[in-house]
Amino acid sequence: MMNTQMSNTTLARENIEILEHERSKIAHDLHNDLGQNITAIRIAAQLMCRQSEGRQTYPVAKSIVMLTDQMFDVMHQLLQRLDPHMVEKKDFRSGLDELLAFVEEHMQLICQIDIDGDVSRLDTTLQLAAYRIIQEALTNAARHGHAKRATIKLSISETELELSIINDGQALTDSLSVLLQDKSSGFGLSGIQQRVLAWQGHLKFTNTAQGVNLSCTIPLVS
Ligand SMILES: Nc1ncnc2c1ncn2[C@@H]1O[C@H](COP(=O)(O)OP(=O)(O)OP(=O)(O)O)[C@@H](O)[C@H]1O
Ligand SMILES: [Mg+2]
Repeated sequence: MMNTQMSNTTLARENIEILEHERSKIAHDLHNDLGQNITAIRIAAQLMCRQSEGRQTYPVAKSIVMLTDQMFDVMHQLLQRLDPHMVEKKDFRSGLDELLAFVEEHMQLICQIDIDGDVSRLDTTLQLAAYRIIQEALTNAARHGHAKRATIKLSISETELELSIINDGQALTDSLSVLLQDKSSGFGLSGIQQRVLAWQGHLKFTNTAQGVNLSCTIPLVS
């Protein structure tokens, strides 16, 4: 029984690693192939702009430049979501700061962060899982709760990781289990739950006096 449970969680963690690897590959292709082509189109359209000033083709060239700028914005938003960069290229904190700056600029959600303990002693896959949970909780807070402020608390002790993301958005109308079962719901909350369960942790999503709180605890003893 114990062994089956262990191999199930090992399998769940492996699945998450495969998923992250796939995302990283897609991010690279997007960045290298699509990004380069968009740049090439933009440069060509700018050249057309310069050569066609005062002529009928000028507004067409101008709109190609504008469209490529929009495509760049969309691509960067996708990269931000896809790339598990902060573990490979940066440390957890700078990756998180980048995410919070992005959330503030694009979602108008101001975040405060409070970290207690040493994140670097966590397995990199677990660091990435914590990052993904924060990312999804903030996106949901802005998108569904129309929150304006959020507080992220992360505490790492010898035996446990505790993470909570509290926001001032609209209160939840359903319990976590109802939201998870709702067929019209997306993949965000179930992705969070999968990650928490892969580390044999516990997830809560409730209305509290401080606001809507998504919190999880993950045991750190191996
Ligand atoms: N912070 C929140 N405030 C209010 N409601 C929420 C919040 N987070 C989630 N919900 C509710 O839970 C549902 C499920 O969330 P979930 O993240 O799984 O899916 P989604 O955000 O709709 O789609 P996806 O995450 O796949 O883009 C949401 O549709 C919303 O009704
Ligand atoms: Mg979501």
